[in-house]
Amino acid sequence: VFIYEFLKLEKLKIKIKISMNEKNNIKDRIYFLIKEIKKHDDLYYQEANPIISDKEYDLLFSELKALEESNPEFLKIDSPTQRVSGKPINGFETIAHKRQMLSLANTYSIGEISDFDRRVRSGLENEDYTYTTELKFDGVAISLHYKDGELEMALTRGDGTKGDNVINNIRTIKSIPIKVNEVSLKGEVIKDFEVRGEVFMRFDDFDELNKKREEQGLQLYANPRNTTAGSLKLLDSNEVEKRKLQASFYQLFCDYVELDSQFDNYRIMKELGFEVSEFAEKHNGIDEINEFLTRWEKKRSELDFAIDGIVIKVNEIKNQEILGTIARSPRWAVAYKFETETVETKLIDISLQIGRQGTITPVAELEPVLLSGTTVKRASLYNEDYINERDIRVGDYVMIEKGGEIIPKVTKVVIEKRAEGSVAFKFPEKIDGFWIFRKEGEANYYIDDTSNHPIILKKKIEHFASRNAMDIDSLGEKVVAEFVDKGVLSGIKDIYFLKDKVDVIKSWEGWGEKSVQKLIEAVEKSKNQEYEKVLFGLGIRYLGEGSAKVIAKNFSDIDKLIVASKEDLRGVYEIGEKIAESIYNWFRDEENLRLIEELKSLGLNFKKAETTDGNSEKLIGKTFVFTGELESIGRKEAAKLVEKLGGRETKSVSKQTSYVVVGANPGSKFENAQKLGVTILDEKEFLELVGIC
Ligand code: IVH
Repeated sequence: VFIYEFLKLEKLKIKIKISMNEKNNIKDRIYFLIKEIKKHDDLYYQEANPIISDKEYDLLFSELKALEESNPEFLKIDSPTQRVSGKPINGFETIAHKRQMLSLANTYSIGEISDFDRRVRSGLENEDYTYTTELKFDGVAISLHYKDGELEMALTRGDGTKGDNVINNIRTIKSIPIKVNEVSLKGEVIKDFEVRGEVFMRFDDFDELNKKREEQGLQLYANPRNTTAGSLKLLDSNEVEKRKLQASFYQLFCDYVELDSQFDNYRIMKELGFEVSEFAEKHNGIDEINEFLTRWEKKRSELDFAIDGIVIKVNEIKNQEILGTIARSPRWAVAYKFETETVETKLIDISLQIGRQGTITPVAELEPVLLSGTTVKRASLYNEDYINERDIRVGDYVMIEKGGEIIPKVTKVVIEKRAEGSVAFKFPEKIDGFWIFRKEGEANYYIDDTSNHPIILKKKIEHFASRNAMDIDSLGEKVVAEFVDKGVLSGIKDIYFLKDKVDVIKSWEGWGEKSVQKLIEAVEKSKNQEYEKVLFGLGIRYLGEGSAKVIAKNFSDIDKLIVASKEDLRGVYEIGEKIAESIYNWFRDEENLRLIEELKSLGLNFKKAETTDGNSEKLIGKTFVFTGELESIGRKEAAKLVEKLGGRETKSVSKQTSYVVVGANPGSKFENAQKLGVTILDEKEFLELVGIC
């Protein structure tokens, strides 16, 4: 018995040893991955010199995440995985600032800075003092609080006395340390402190973001600063992470260590692990400051982020304290604001762009010029009145500047440089042979959107084939443009005759047997699309996806819709005056009626499918909002069920909402529903309503 027990114990010991070894290996691997990922973060964010691909980085990241999840005892607070909060949160907590977040008095000339220097000198009497000059980042101010070396709070400026805690969003900014390096000053470790700085976006990242939005057909963001401010207020940190925000820090406060100077603080913040501007300088007097200002006035355009001036600060903290603050600005610092950057260039031409709905916008075609970090080739001219008021002529030298909008604007003409014999700009009567007109009381010219101008035509066909309409996958923007230009498409109905042009298409570059066949199959398949999708695809102005569904439900056959009066249409719940009018007019056009007849004969669906289920219209006119996670069914599936029964999912809660379905961890929609007194259903009640249990 003794020997047996002894052997059992030995076996157990070996087992424990093996598993301890395993555990140690896991721990080592986790720590290795953390170090490795941080190294690549630095290479990417600090040095802009990544040495591995995004995919390789993601692999390291997901391995670390998986190991931490199965071995939570090794989860480190400063692990890169802890930066992103997995779940969207409901809102932000408003917290009082420990010290007010002041603003700076603005100056616009060296004369005003001399005045500031005089005030400083008289305030400091016999003290010696120096200055620092720093870039004034054009971003969003942030105050970070660290406790025991770890980030515990991140407040926006708010009204200067209290701000919102946006810590989860700040954690997504990879250059901000979640845990700082150990730094000692005068025998004390700096671990409980506050830093302040600016969150901003690089021009490149901003342009990239807008490029993606353009591809997705989303509205473009106006400028990096507003986008940064908006990003910090997003509730979904995963989304914030995609914005690639940057941060640079310029103030340090530590209650238990005496800090000496602003310039030293820069060094300390850097040692702690913060990003600080490499362009801060220390100066002895006004002349040196003046030199810095002139230098940066020129150099600012080389930066890949926006600055709107220079901040001049008294360097010694003790001197700052002597000077104190007045109202909401410190007496020890001042901002020198740059003029809005303007440059001169030649206006080569004025082109006229045709927008989706036929709007015509004049655009300045410029000799390329560098402005605030980007090369500008085009600028806004807005409309005819804008051009006339400034008498802007082709061939003129013009001044351009960046305002709040995406593309710069032409502000004025350099009249002294006007060439002799130039003529005032006049809108043409026709563009590419199509009449254009200016509506009364409107600033814009339009091209008739029922016209067959190639641009309008392309847009119409593209819309018809799009995913939420006929869903002809192969017929995207590029292909439509190619087909229209090459003459195989000159209207919507031609899509269904592409099968007769297979041989021609196959002879074009980039088209093979397979891709053509795929296209033809997709076209044929689209004939099965539901009536409401066909209606939406017709591109009737103001008739969106949702209203097309409502119309299809209420006019179950296109013939009923064709004869409907404006009153009939307006009588439908959810169909407003504008849509009713637009639908009515659309069916009064002979060409449109012909198109319907042709599409009908080609076999497209112009009738609502008959339903045999007595329940099928049970939820007609009812709207549902979903919030939180449902256990037994996905959100998409739930929305489909609602639709099948005649109801509709909407994204936000209003008094008109019929039901709000609340799952686990609901968002603010739940609270809104309670406030507005909308009927709330839990998962079980919802399933009962749709007849599942
Ligand atoms: S010092 C009281 N330094 O400008 C001094 N501010 O109008 C507080 N800013 O709210 C700030 N770059 O958002 C300082 N190098 C810099 C700055 C800077 C940008 C912003 C900051 C502040 C505003 C002051």
